[in-house]
Amino acid sequence: MMSLNNRSIISNSSPISSIRRKIPSSPNSKKIPFPSKISMEGAASNKSIKRWFWTKDEDVKLKKGIAELYDESSEMWENLWGDHMHHGYYDVHNMDDDGSNVSLSHHRTAQRRMIQEALLFASVPEDPMAKPKRIVDVGCGIGGSSRYLAKKYGAECQGITLSPVQVQRAQALTAAEGLQDNVTFQVADALNQPFPDGQFDLVWSMESGEHMPQKSKFVGELARVVAPGGRIIIVTWCHRDLSSAEKSLRPEEEHLLKKICDAYYLPEWCSPSDYVKLLESLSLQDIKTADWTDNVAPFWPAVIKLALSWKGMTSLLRCGWKTIKGALVMPLMIEGYKKGLIKFAIITARKPE
Ligand SMILES: C[S@@+](CC[C@H](N)C(=O)[O-])C[C@H]1O[C@@H](n2cnc3c(N)ncnc32)[C@H](O)[C@@H]1O
Repeated sequence: MMSLNNRSIISNSSPISSIRRKIPSSPNSKKIPFPSKISMEGAASNKSIKRWFWTKDEDVKLKKGIAELYDESSEMWENLWGDHMHHGYYDVHNMDDDGSNVSLSHHRTAQRRMIQEALLFASVPEDPMAKPKRIVDVGCGIGGSSRYLAKKYGAECQGITLSPVQVQRAQALTAAEGLQDNVTFQVADALNQPFPDGQFDLVWSMESGEHMPQKSKFVGELARVVAPGGRIIIVTWCHRDLSSAEKSLRPEEEHLLKKICDAYYLPEWCSPSDYVKLLESLSLQDIKTADWTDNVAPFWPAVIKLALSWKGMTSLLRCGWKTIKGALVMPLMIEGYKKGLIKFAIITARKPE
């Protein structure tokens, strides 16, 4: 492994671990009514951080819970933050640790920068002949990344999410920008994608991997749908890598992660090294990872500050219990980062030609 500034690069012979976060708003968002909420039964149970098997019943409950969480909370997130439901990327040395003196527009710029930094890190070509033409946005939220990527590359983009409300909202925002011919959305499972093999030049997963119950199946699907020569980008929450002497996280660490799992419908955590191993096992190339935990540090404090504002509190109270439960757990994310337990990681790879 070698180091480039804050970026650790791992080649085809090394190991990885995973986390997660929420959404922001476009100028059009106020004009387009948000689809009505869809109520569902069920909640995920998180018995341990690493799962070696996963029952059908658990799977159904988890996916219902995720769909319901995002059906319930996406409008609030969009009203407060806009159409990107992910962390911002900040300059480590130009920012207070708690981000308290930073404007909302700066945070939104940081969220777009997250996308730009991920594309740079993965060396996605800009050249007109080589740039991506077909993109899949796996766990697309309300389509912030899908629209960004489609516009940047003049590409077709297909987004998938478990939330029917997100699909409707993503379609409405996309139509408002006149992108509906190139950018489409559907409810579909990332672990069983409705696409043929080798379909996409760029497979994009921005803060959705942490929701996936079987990381090997998740990564296997990403590798299946990427075209030869195409790139996979995973930006996700991980737990720290284990040392060679460790077989598992410490009990108090597992305890903290489980509380976060319960609130956010995260079935299992893994390390960046685990992701690298999975990508290696599928013979992918140019496998790289970096720890961007320091670069996202101002984000959660800003989310909490906005949630505690009058607008934040009233929006939160209009959402359901799942969203309120998620808000109560936000300080645990900061605790996890500060303790070095939670890592904000990017993992990228390329499929051989
Ligand atoms: C935190 S949001 C991120 C949204 C988007 N990537 C963004 O950055 O704005 C997580 C997304 O992952 C989706 N998701 C979680 N599990 C999924 C699964 N098994 N299949 C498809 N989407 C999933 C959720 O529905 C939600 O849209």
